[in-house]
Amino acid sequence: MSSSPTSWTTPLIFHGTFIHSISPKEVDIILNGLLVVSQQGKIVFLRRNVPAPDVKKLLRFLPGLPNLSDSPVRFLTRGEFLIPGFVDTHNHAPQWTQRGMGRGLLIMDWLNKVTFPHEAKFEDPEYARQTYASCVDGFIKQGVTTAAYYGSLHGEATKILADTCLEKGQRALVGKCCMVRNAPDFYRDKTNKESLEVTEDFIAHVKSIDPSGLLVQPILTPRFAICCDEELLAGIGDIASKHRDMMIQTHFNEAKQEVAVTKELFPQFENEADLYEHFGLFNNRTIMAHCIYPDDYEIGRIKACDVGVAHCPVSNTTGGEWGAAPIRRYLDMGIKVGLGTDSGGGFSSSILDASRQAFIISLGRELMTDGKEQRLTLWECFYLATLGGAKVCCLADKIGTFETGKDFDALEVTTLLDDGQSSLVEEDDSVADIFEKFLMTGDDRNIAKVFVMGRSIKKSKQ
Ligand code: GUN
Ligand code: FE
Repeated sequence: MSSSPTSWTTPLIFHGTFIHSISPKEVDIILNGLLVVSQQGKIVFLRRNVPAPDVKKLLRFLPGLPNLSDSPVRFLTRGEFLIPGFVDTHNHAPQWTQRGMGRGLLIMDWLNKVTFPHEAKFEDPEYARQTYASCVDGFIKQGVTTAAYYGSLHGEATKILADTCLEKGQRALVGKCCMVRNAPDFYRDKTNKESLEVTEDFIAHVKSIDPSGLLVQPILTPRFAICCDEELLAGIGDIASKHRDMMIQTHFNEAKQEVAVTKELFPQFENEADLYEHFGLFNNRTIMAHCIYPDDYEIGRIKACDVGVAHCPVSNTTGGEWGAAPIRRYLDMGIKVGLGTDSGGGFSSSILDASRQAFIISLGRELMTDGKEQRLTLWECFYLATLGGAKVCCLADKIGTFETGKDFDALEVTTLLDDGQSSLVEEDDSVADIFEKFLMTGDDRNIAKVFVMGRSIKKSKQ
């Protein structure tokens, strides 16, 4: 069994450097910051430019707070800093143990040869329990404080996934994957009725374990149109219209092969945007993964309907078709964009890797468009990994930046390691230099602590 997360500490106080993205173009570096987190895990005080010797004095008289001058303070030194936790906007939890397998296969082959046989194993609750414990710990280790997870099609296993996130303290959107056709008999919902009933039962379960959705929320998850028929999509759309605040996730314009098969199956729709919109699945609560090939019309619908984009650059460039999504266009239009690992659809469980790949792919996109769509900056990639992802998950009122009133979902980063991996900090490095070195060369070893709602959840021996 996994160990339970470190219990709440009361209250948490940090002094030092805090770095957060406040818009795609602006990273705010707070120097000599003082940040206080309440027992409930909320940021209750934040001020910049507080000299270290003044901290105790200031803690005595914080507005609306008790005298905290005797509380322990974590003084971050040079080379250490806080950043908001990473948001993984597209993650298939049951693919945790298949990551790296079948890269280079076209999507339909990869699903049939690698993914469906693998996900079918989650019929066994004990297998699900063990694998999901490893999966959630693994993503926490990488600094993923919020994940939008697809489960398998199994109700019980997906409940176990939601329970696991709650127990381990990871913020999560969790969905039972709906798929009734174009999948083998051993791994598909037997009927639309069953798919919808299992979905409703799963939603009721999540509402029973976390009634106000403090950490875990259900998310409607049609795998993609190819695995659904009209009746199933309409049924899922009905559930969405009954629960106006419920999130929705699926795959969208992921591969030329997928776009072509979708057209064959749904000839009545000109494109995927119209298809999903028709069934009430294309709105401001929707997360669309990949979004590589939408045409101008569909991009217009994404913007008009305020749909969020889960950019999965590792997956997009290691499947059978190499694809570079037009992220610069999306950002210029004010479309919500975050990053996704895609789990087994890629090879890495790291949002740092996804952000680096987003940068690399944007260079390719600039080349492909003769400079029209300019590359992303590293800071924009950091935005996608944090606040951008929070917006896609409709959680930006709670997480994504350091602001009073928000939950403290954060990573304590250290660059003071001589481990042969991350770039060493040198005396003449500015804070921005140190941050850049972390973004380009850091990994989970640099993520010393992971906090969700003020609770420290990374296992110490990971
Ligand atoms: N399309 C339908 N299912 C999947 C999946 O599991 N992963 C990816 N990347 N695309 C999909
Ligand atoms: Fe996916």
